[in-house]
Amino acid sequence: MPFPKADTIWMDGEFVDWDDATVHVLTPTLHYGYGVFEGIRAYPTDRGPAVFQLRPHLERLLRSARLYPPLDTTPWSVDDLVGVVEQLIRVNGHAEGCYIRPTIILGYGEIGLNPLPSRPQAAVATWQWGSYLGEDSLINGVRVMMSSYRRIGKNTIPPAGKANGQYINSSLAKVEALRAGYDEAIMLSEDGFVAEGTGENIFVIRDGVIRTPPLHDGPLAGITRAAVIAIARDLGYEVIETSLVRTDLYLADEIFLTGTAAELTPVREVAGYEIGTRGPITEAVQSTFLDAVRGKVDAYREWLHVVDV
Ligand SMILES: Cc1ncc(COP(=O)(O)O)c(C=O)c1O
Repeated sequence: MPFPKADTIWMDGEFVDWDDATVHVLTPTLHYGYGVFEGIRAYPTDRGPAVFQLRPHLERLLRSARLYPPLDTTPWSVDDLVGVVEQLIRVNGHAEGCYIRPTIILGYGEIGLNPLPSRPQAAVATWQWGSYLGEDSLINGVRVMMSSYRRIGKNTIPPAGKANGQYINSSLAKVEALRAGYDEAIMLSEDGFVAEGTGENIFVIRDGVIRTPPLHDGPLAGITRAAVIAIARDLGYEVIETSLVRTDLYLADEIFLTGTAAELTPVREVAGYEIGTRGPITEAVQSTFLDAVRGKVDAYREWLHVVDV
């Protein structure tokens, strides 16, 4: 699929043409993965394009940077980056919404394994993006396998951060799943509890109760996860953060994945165990979520950062 290029990318204070937003091949982040990033979405609303949970995403970016010094010495604040995102949505003309990718990397100049002498550089790109796991997956659901890869461990690469290099773990699991004919992989933690998908949190429903792994089992503290927990509770469902094992998935009534990219995608099969297409609780939470991100639910309008275009 060709990249849906936009006009302009922001790089460390400058707005540059898309094709000029390049780094040197010896930029250390390319070699060691030592950088952090975010994935954010803007949606069309009746008040203009609106970014879903912009500040929480940018706060998570700077929290990730704190785990990886010297990325934490970036001079850019959340307020600065909010302004950059607003500008990019305007100059790139994203009236219908877009995907937003901020990153903080190590600048060119040093190539040793010690990142501390490097200077952090930030960039933000935006582009048009459709559904991640396929349009029809939002209704019919996806097929997932249990990955043979474990999710990065707490004392290996901190799962609390969103570091570029950690996604080699996700990509290995993703490739394994695609080659085996599945859409997505679910990864277990080092100690065998369900952690999450390769880029999505997981929710498991049985007997009307919604369960999701706690953060100490290694999932990313997903921003969609938090929103979905709030929505489900507001709809009157019980949501419990509790450790899950693989058979909790096989025996589930409904399962869904959440994330900026996947939004709220039902799971219809886990490793040969049939779960079924989108169930009633999944549908209720999903439809409220998809309305909320488009500014159609007053109670959740505070999650949206409307950009005046
Ligand atoms: C590993 C992983 N888990 C979960 C998520 C979902 O997080 P969010 O809802 O903040 O996009 C992501 C996406 O960033 C991710 O990369």
